[in-house]
Amino acid sequence: MLVKHLTLTDFRNYQHADIDLNPGVTLFVGRNGQGKTNLVEAVRYLATLNSHRVAGYIPLIRQDQPSAIVRALASHAGRDALIELELNRGSPNRARINKANPTKTRDILGYINCVVFAPEDLDIIKKDPSNRRAFIDELVVQVWPRFAGVYSDYERVLKQRNTLLRTARQTGSRTTALSTLDAWDSQLVGYGTEIIVARMQLIERLRPLLTKAYQAIAETNNEPRILVRSSLFASATNASATFESSDDESDLGLLETSDREVIHEAFKAKLSEIRPRELERGITLVGPHRDDLLLMLGTLPAKGYASHGECWSFALGLRLASIDLLRNETQSGDPILILDDVFAELDAGRRTRLAQLVANNEQVLITAAVAEDVPETLLAATFHVKHGTVAAEEPMVNDD
Ligand SMILES: Nc1ncnc2c1ncn2[C@@H]1O[C@H](COP(=O)(O)OP(=O)(O)OP(=O)(O)O)[C@@H](O)[C@H]1O
Ligand SMILES: [Mg+2]
Repeated sequence: MLVKHLTLTDFRNYQHADIDLNPGVTLFVGRNGQGKTNLVEAVRYLATLNSHRVAGYIPLIRQDQPSAIVRALASHAGRDALIELELNRGSPNRARINKANPTKTRDILGYINCVVFAPEDLDIIKKDPSNRRAFIDELVVQVWPRFAGVYSDYERVLKQRNTLLRTARQTGSRTTALSTLDAWDSQLVGYGTEIIVARMQLIERLRPLLTKAYQAIAETNNEPRILVRSSLFASATNASATFESSDDESDLGLLETSDREVIHEAFKAKLSEIRPRELERGITLVGPHRDDLLLMLGTLPAKGYASHGECWSFALGLRLASIDLLRNETQSGDPILILDDVFAELDAGRRTRLAQLVANNEQVLITAAVAEDVPETLLAATFHVKHGTVAAEEPMVNDD
């Protein structure tokens, strides 16, 4: 698929931008802070309702403006769809598809698919579990858009359950809390099980694609593996140590099934086992919001062991595998590839191989501070980005 036309109004540092895009590679060049990432972030936001830079959407609205509008003409197999998203500071956000009546923002998911490569991808390998959950959850939502609703239901239940636990702890009124807690538990387990199963099903499909992608980008025989570590299977003996922080990875158990029934029962059992501790802490201690992926390279975890170059290969491998996955599992063909400032970070070998691997994708959007950072094979249609304006072809002379 591709985006043929992109219009931004009061989005980030753009007052207004109107850009025609073609199939193949498009390069956005400009100095730091001019708006290159903002531009591709707009495409990504339409695809995922997520940014790779911030949580929430308020930072996407131009300073001192009440709302931002992003509009894209998406196209696949000769069929066009006009996707429009309005982000409002003071009122609910709205979306429109093909100029129809406004609808929920979530309804636009599935129209545009994209895979973003960015320097922040290293965080998936090196940093805390929230980065790995974000990686897998974003893929789940792109492959099965209805999951956006499941995630938001889960978050709502989690928040309300946490409020209840916190109140019970503060007031010491455990009996009233306990009766209400049961109702929340069944919802938490219901939505949570769906999320855990979806993540597992996706990871099962991602595994062979990752092996292939890693070998293509790293040219080594090391076997990358993705294992799932779950708070549902954390060892009971170490429970007090395990659950101290929401991102403690030390002691999670391996989850090796995607069987809904098994996961559902394990979730229920763990919740009742952990309940005294939850009342003591005033917070929900088990569920997909506490789970993690264990990324292995050979027999060692990538985190804490892999070299910087190996971490890059793993991160690129995950993104390349995501491309194949979206191509296989959705009706949209090639996802749009966004390479935000990655080439400057890579060594010559990975640069060249990455360029080869993405070159034939239906649409590739690349940002770079200078065109020299981008492999020659990818030099194509170029836009110059400056102070929130985008101009095709001719570089601007005055560069103040
Ligand atoms: N909501 C907003 N309103 C106005 N300006 C904003 C907003 N959000 C970000 N900006 C501005 O946009 C600029 C950043 O743009 P962007 O991240 O796209 O830069 P870039 O061209 O990708 O730079 P680099 O090469 O450093 O990555 C910053 O100057 C920032 O102040
Ligand atoms: Mg940038």
